[in-house]
Amino acid sequence: MISTSSGSGRLAGSTRSQWWRTVLGEYPTGVVLVTSTDADGAHVGMVVGTFSAVSEDPPMVGFMPTSTSRTLGHITRRGRFVVSVLGAHHEQLARDFAASRKDRFQRAEWVTTESGLLRVADAVSWYESSVDQVVEAGDHAIVLGRVEGFGVGNGNGGLPLLYLKGGYGTFTAPSLRLDFGRFGDRMRLTDSMAAVLEEYAKRCGVECTVSTLAGDSVVVLASAGVADPVPRGASFPWAAPLSPVLAAWAGDEQRKVWMERSRHLVGKVDRPRLTALLEGVRNCGYAVSLGTSVRDQFASTVTNPDADRAELMALWVSIEDERATLEKQGSWRSQVGSIQVPVFDTEGRASLELVVGGFGPAPSRERFEEVLDGARETAALLSALGAAFES
Ligand SMILES: Cc1cc2nc3c(=O)[nH]c(=O)nc-3n(C[C@H](O)[C@H](O)[C@H](O)COP(=O)(O)O)c2cc1C
Repeated sequence: MISTSSGSGRLAGSTRSQWWRTVLGEYPTGVVLVTSTDADGAHVGMVVGTFSAVSEDPPMVGFMPTSTSRTLGHITRRGRFVVSVLGAHHEQLARDFAASRKDRFQRAEWVTTESGLLRVADAVSWYESSVDQVVEAGDHAIVLGRVEGFGVGNGNGGLPLLYLKGGYGTFTAPSLRLDFGRFGDRMRLTDSMAAVLEEYAKRCGVECTVSTLAGDSVVVLASAGVADPVPRGASFPWAAPLSPVLAAWAGDEQRKVWMERSRHLVGKVDRPRLTALLEGVRNCGYAVSLGTSVRDQFASTVTNPDADRAELMALWVSIEDERATLEKQGSWRSQVGSIQVPVFDTEGRASLELVVGGFGPAPSRERFEEVLDGARETAALLSALGAAFES
């Protein structure tokens, strides 16, 4: 049904302008700080909500300053600017810049870029650009910049600052709270687990690792049969498609976190594929990963405390690429790198995952079945251990 809209045709002058701003205020934006230098080399900056990514190849960003903006004049002259995407904790900084407070540059930590401009050290992300075009557009301009450097801040950016209806706020990312009681129980179980894992690893000639969820990370609790094991306590983000057994029997909210975290990490998520993957895992009772070439990269990234977001993203992309390539190459059994089996708690949740590898390459059907049966028996033993511990 189409209804007649009551527009703003009859409004005039300042009322119309106010209504325009009110209506625009219904659209949320992020908040960025655009910085550059003036003719004397002094730092200048303005708060901007109209920032946007424009082009990927070549990478370009843009924003729309009012034509009377002094910062616009400086940026045009200097031919260069830096965008710092502000975090929720930067609300006061945004207010200080919007109010042109004299000491505004003293109110943040800065990093000086190679070309001498400033970016906010703990920004969520940043882009340094040369001016490509400045297009006049009514009483504003559209500044298009060629991105020459970009990245995330020093890791303390947190969630982005948002602006809506004339006020600041932030976004609540779906996250899992860490249940310290349960996590502590699982940590205390690890010594008893080690004996069960050792026995299985020896008997079947496999490598195995047990992990659990702690908040939104997967934490390694114990391993056996592995020459160079990922140490106990090492952790990595719980983000699809890794550790699907911890998601397959979980509630809707946890499954959503698992999928959306992969979007946070690599910028995209294939929900239908992941939903089908979880359904497949529930039906089979186990999951498999394909390929082993990413394994070393995985271990070194996970055990590196300094691994940053870019490395984690590259790792997740490699895992997806390897899977996609191998999926096209015939039978999955000839490509299988690991089997992952859930260990259920007394409430039927997959509280641990048992990951078994080192039985390839290309195991025969019999060998695969032998390893899988052993993994299921071991998972049942671990389940019983957990139940005895809880009671
Ligand atoms: C959340 C927020 C978003 C803003 N976005 C814009 C914008 O996109 N374009 C603009 O011209 N001014 C914007 N402003 C206003 C400028 O920050 C402010 O007018 C600033 O002082 C610009 O003037 P100057 O360059 O002359 O210092 C915004 C202000 C706030 C608080």
